[in-house]
Amino acid sequence: MDVFRIGLIGAGSIGTRHIKAIDELALMELVAIADPAPAAAKLAESRGLEAFTDAESMLSKTDVDAVIIATPTERHHADLMMALKYRKTVLVEKPITATTKEADEVTHYAAEQGCQVLVGHQRRYYPCAQIARDIIQNGRIGRLMAVSGQWTTRKDEDYFAPAWRRNFEAGPILTNLIHEIDLLRFICGDIASVSAEMTNHDQNFEKEDAVAISLKFANQAVGSFLLSDRTPSPWTWEMALGESVKFPKTGMNSMRFLGVQGALEFPNLVLWKHSDNNGDWHQEIVPEVIEAPFIDAYVAQCEHLRAVARGYETPIVDALNGSRSLDATLAAARAATGGKRIQLSN
Ligand SMILES: NC(=O)c1ccc[n+]([C@@H]2O[C@H](COP(=O)([O-])OP(=O)(O)OC[C@H]3O[C@@H](n4cnc5c(N)ncnc54)[C@H](O)[C@@H]3O)[C@@H](O)[C@H]2O)c1
Repeated sequence: MDVFRIGLIGAGSIGTRHIKAIDELALMELVAIADPAPAAAKLAESRGLEAFTDAESMLSKTDVDAVIIATPTERHHADLMMALKYRKTVLVEKPITATTKEADEVTHYAAEQGCQVLVGHQRRYYPCAQIARDIIQNGRIGRLMAVSGQWTTRKDEDYFAPAWRRNFEAGPILTNLIHEIDLLRFICGDIASVSAEMTNHDQNFEKEDAVAISLKFANQAVGSFLLSDRTPSPWTWEMALGESVKFPKTGMNSMRFLGVQGALEFPNLVLWKHSDNNGDWHQEIVPEVIEAPFIDAYVAQCEHLRAVARGYETPIVDALNGSRSLDATLAAARAATGGKRIQLSN
């Protein structure tokens, strides 16, 4: 089979994580980098590649099978439109774009150009996420009634040194929540409405110190999600799973799904049930640990990109799906600042 040739736009922190994944795959090659930063030019040179400063100069001069976009979020729209102009299959880092209007433009242009866009919500690739989705969707805990989740940790003081990190745009809702929302949508289905309460009474910056989000899903289940970047705790997805070497693993689960016949802890899957499906609070409830292999989700995502570009698979998170996760996240931000319940159009 032919080598699959990838061009990378934006070779910063997450761009280099994609390079690591590409390097681990046989018959997949990084053939070009576009990034104006001197460090990126050095990186290209060290790999014997021509260094381009922007997407168009790379795409006009290099033959690539697919493009990965890992530029700052405000650039996603322009870089996506450029890659689609050249009719490329694209994997864009999350969020798909900065605004829903931009995301709509991308969705329509991709359809017009006959191209596939994948959005980099890498959590969906972990087997535990797929198994949780199957358990919920196949009714193993009965009708889904409620979900509770947490992403509560304390970011280091240096993190808040740059003034922009104190703005609402850099707070945990707009920085961290989209991964949680996307996972919840993947496992439980679309979100119908969102409301929220926030507080900043620790740091007194514009951004939230903690926020409580209420969700109603299209299937009528309710959800609550707590998010804070000021509270040391073992309850985040990253710590539960040990996803990143940057954060210590605790193994403590950060989400619970509740159905009328049982409950599921996540991401280390523990299924709690009575011995029969009509069991109640007087009867013993027993845990079943479900093993799920731990994988490199970035490698799985790259393999999926190749399969989509070659027409063997359809995107796990396409532009429309990525737009809905963005929509729900932006709605949570508006709900937190405006104190209103927001209905999503989906
Ligand atoms: N999936 C995840 O878990 C995850 C994690 C971190 C970041 N991200 C997303 O990845 C994106 C990048 O974040 P990052 O932390 O890697 O940022 P970063 O600042 O480390 O890297 C961005 C890179 O883009 C380059 N760049 C800027 N303008 C450019 C242009 N016009 N053309 C080409 N390159 C350009 C910069 O020089 C830099 O090297 C963001 O959208 C962020 O939300 C996703």
